[in-house]
Amino acid sequence: MLAPMENMTDSCFRSVCHGADMTFTEMASIEALAKGDPFAWERIKLYDDTPCAIQLIGHKEKPLYDFLSKYKPEKGFCGFNLNLGCPDPEIIKAGHGVALVKRISKVKKLIDMIKSFGYEASVKMRLGLNQFEKDRKVYLNLINNVDADYFIVHARHGKETYADRADWSVFTECVKTGKNIIANGDIKTKKDVEKLKYCKGVMIGREAVFDPLIFLKLKGLEITNIENVKAEYEKLAQERNAHPKYSKHIWKHIGF
Ligand SMILES: Cc1cc2nc3c(=O)[nH]c(=O)nc-3n(C[C@H](O)[C@H](O)[C@H](O)COP(=O)(O)O)c2cc1C
Repeated sequence: MLAPMENMTDSCFRSVCHGADMTFTEMASIEALAKGDPFAWERIKLYDDTPCAIQLIGHKEKPLYDFLSKYKPEKGFCGFNLNLGCPDPEIIKAGHGVALVKRISKVKKLIDMIKSFGYEASVKMRLGLNQFEKDRKVYLNLINNVDADYFIVHARHGKETYADRADWSVFTECVKTGKNIIANGDIKTKKDVEKLKYCKGVMIGREAVFDPLIFLKLKGLEITNIENVKAEYEKLAQERNAHPKYSKHIWKHIGF
């Protein structure tokens, strides 16, 4: 799976990550979608049949209900994903993102509501707000008690940065719950993927920005090269009138 990444994984980048079995939109605010905010609706627009789950951030049931009542699935749509990982202080203050990992009954209500509309519902989570929550294993409590179709576990807590290594040791106990667990955090090579084979799948973020061919490479299917990918990306950005910030962010990294 290609990870959602703000200001990077717009529809153009998702389309050129050939070989990824699933992609995700950047997070879109449930409240903004419910209010009909055009910026939020543009974020969740799907342009082709690239498999894509729409990532939602928020915690209130009423706006979620209002949004879901309006939403009409497009080609490529593969359900909704709830963000329980964003560690931004403003997001936490609002009670969203990683602040929700310990709020089992709230998350259960949101996931059950998405499913009641007939859509697949998944969770993307960190291990808790901080070391204290991680030590109390709030993430396991959530996985055990919420009926999501799959759980993407980014193996860091909310106070950790990318300088801290993702703690892959947590995946074993997550898998033991019997739920579908997707491993995430610092996964870069075929060897890494082999090590995590006991999980249902893996999600790759930053490494895919350096090399969008990573998914094909991991599958032994190198049917194109980086120059073709760049050209395809530019063409799509033009056709879809993509905001220039995306190519600016992507070009800093792509192909290295
Ligand atoms: C620039 C950037 C933006 C991100 N934006 C989001 C986001 O919108 N939603 C989300 O769930 N995670 C977001 N993440 C986290 C990634 O999805 C992923 O969990 C994290 O980068 C760890 O995976 P990696 O080591 O393969 O990069 C972002 C990460 C980066 C680096």
